[in-house]
Amino acid sequence: MAERTDDRLIVALDFATRRCAADMASELEGVAGFFKLGLSSLAWGGLEFAAELKKDSKRIFLDLKLFDIGSVVARTVESLNSLGADFLTVHGDPGVVRSAVSGRGDANTKILAVTFLTSVDRHDLDAALIKRGAFGDLACERATRAIDAGADGIIASAREAAAIRAVPGAKDKLIVTPGIRLGIGDRHDQVRVMTPSAAFEAGADHIVVGRPIIRSENPVDAAKSILAQLPGTSNRPTG
Ligand code: C5P
Repeated sequence: MAERTDDRLIVALDFATRRCAADMASELEGVAGFFKLGLSSLAWGGLEFAAELKKDSKRIFLDLKLFDIGSVVARTVESLNSLGADFLTVHGDPGVVRSAVSGRGDANTKILAVTFLTSVDRHDLDAALIKRGAFGDLACERATRAIDAGADGIIASAREAAAIRAVPGAKDKLIVTPGIRLGIGDRHDQVRVMTPSAAFEAGADHIVVGRPIIRSENPVDAAKSILAQLPGTSNRPTG
């Protein structure tokens, strides 16, 4: 029987080939069992690969960040239902969320709404003509509208997690936070980053970690060290 893993950690398999993604999933066997496949996997058959991982008792997060007219979003989600993904992302616009929820129907996939990418800051919002206001306030507003539209959870930087948890209706929703860094080292293209423990203290249910694990010299050690920092972990470092 497969070893039980701590599914609060979701590993982003952001690879350009199926071989690399499959090798990483195998390397992390028994350490991480919840994997995110996104846009970088589409050309090499990431959806089929996700379905295979699912059959192998892994949990799957399809990070497709869907955004289109309502009928297309609904039909796309309906066609993805057969893959049995645990999580699926869409843009947090209320019409998109509503259509995704309708396409999901009775399937078990949680529809997660993206507020803002963790790689953007206020300057990027200005460039995208997004109204004035503090980042946190706008993320909360987007989260509130997405929740009202039926989202099961919200993707947001851990920096906004506590404020989002406090918005009406968010108490029982999932908060999933990318942009996790270990405090030292390379942020890569991420801007609004936080450490794993700080993300959970802020109210996250899951963290998404890509490069700090998959580009590490020793992905297993990197994943174990992140897991050890999560609240309630018995080997959590003290002090
Ligand atoms: O390598 P890194 O840990 O930065 O990867 C973060 C992952 O989370 C990437 O796959 C990225 O697409 C995703 N993500 C994000 N910010 C969001 C939503 C998803 O970084 N708001």
